[in-house]
Order: sequence, then structure tokens, then C-alpha cells
Amino acid sequence: MVISANFKTNKTREETKEYLNTLEQNLHPSTSSEIIIFPPTTALQHHIGRVEIGVQNSYPVERGAFTGEIGLEQLEEFGIRTILIGHSERREILKESQDEVAKKFQFFAEKNFKIIYCIGEPLEIRKEGREKLFHYLENQFRDIPLEYSNYTIAYEPIWAIGTGITPTMEEIEEVLKWIKEKTDRKVIYGGSVKVANIEEILRLPSCDGVLVGSASLEVTDFIKMINISEDISKS
Ligand code: PGA
Repeated sequence: MVISANFKTNKTREETKEYLNTLEQNLHPSTSSEIIIFPPTTALQHHIGRVEIGVQNSYPVERGAFTGEIGLEQLEEFGIRTILIGHSERREILKESQDEVAKKFQFFAEKNFKIIYCIGEPLEIRKEGREKLFHYLENQFRDIPLEYSNYTIAYEPIWAIGTGITPTMEEIEEVLKWIKEKTDRKVIYGGSVKVANIEEILRLPSCDGVLVGSASLEVTDFIKMINISEDISKS
């Protein structure tokens, strides 16, 4: 299972270090889950342990004149080999187009990065019915090389992100299953995942893990979620 945490614009470098230390100290040596933390860019750091550090965003370039952005060279300094691409906050707030998202995917795939690729629909689309929903999601696969070996798809309905609203388990399973028909890579869910609902989400037949935002900020809660995933893997 993939249990990942997206800190977004939360936590300082020091707070992230402390979080990682607590997390590593509390992980059971036999933990089998793939644990990934996406801290803010200023908190990227070399980290040796069970937990993998990924970057929330990067410009698809080695280096150059792209004010305010970071590229491959800055990631390599910290040994970062994992990236989140296509998060709805980047698509919606930062206006990243599908073309830009796909370019990023292609660049980092060429560099053999592990990619967590996010897709998800806004509420208006969800309300328009299944046909519109799947058409919308299909467009988020445009120019994405699904034959690439090292990626995971994260389905994150925008209306469930940071809202405390989770879709029904049937709604989640339907989309995860649809994604699994396109690719045999892992498929995870994100959107208001928390200690109280992670178990039923992870037990969905097509679910290979979660991407957690707000509920991951408290390290004790994130540890609880990892432990729940371990219990499920064993049972
Ligand atoms: P949330 O965020 O858990 O706060 O809903 C999830 C995400 O945006 O990845």
C-alpha cells in the first residue's frame, strides 16, 4: 500500500525534520507500506530511513531562467526522486494546463522519477452525471504515457479535498476501478482521508493506498493511519 502525505504550504524545515524523526522512530521495523512525504520545497532534505521524500512540484527543466521555480538540479542536491504531478490545487489555483502537466510528466518520466499523478473532477462535473465525469477524467490522461513503469495514479475529487466531505465508497471504487482498466500501476485515493475513514477506503477492492492532506499534519494521526494500513495488509 502507498500511504502518502501532502503537506502543501504547511510546516517549516525544522517542523518537517521533527515530524520525520518522530515518524521514523514510531514505524514498526516490518512496515511494508510505501510511505511518502511531500513537504514544502523549503523543507526538502536528504533523508535516510523508511520514509521517502517527494517534491510537490518542479519545473520540467534541469536548470535555467525560470524565476521562482526549481528544477532537476535543485532536486538532485537532496536526492529527491519522487514528484507529485497534476494536483488539483496546481491545476485550479496555479492554472496549470493539461499540456503543462503532461510535459512535466514526460520530463520526469524520462529522468526515471517515481511520479504520483493526480486526477479529479470538480463538483459541477460530478453533478452532470457519469458520462461527463468519465469524459472529464479521460482528458486528464491526455498525453500521459501510461506505459511508463514508475507511477501511481491518485484519484482526488476536488470537492472532497480539504472539505471534510468524502464520496461514498461506491463512488470511489467506481472511479478507481475505471482507472485500473487503463493501467496496471497502483491507484490510490485522496480527499479528506483521516483516521476515522481510512480503513474502509483501503479495503476497497481497487484501492492501493491514499494521499492524505490535512489529516497528515499531525504526526500521531499519520502514524495511526500507517498502522491501520499495515493491519489491513496482514489480514
Ligand atoms: P485533504 O487533501 O486530505 O486535506 O483533503 C488531500 C490532497 O489534496 O492531496
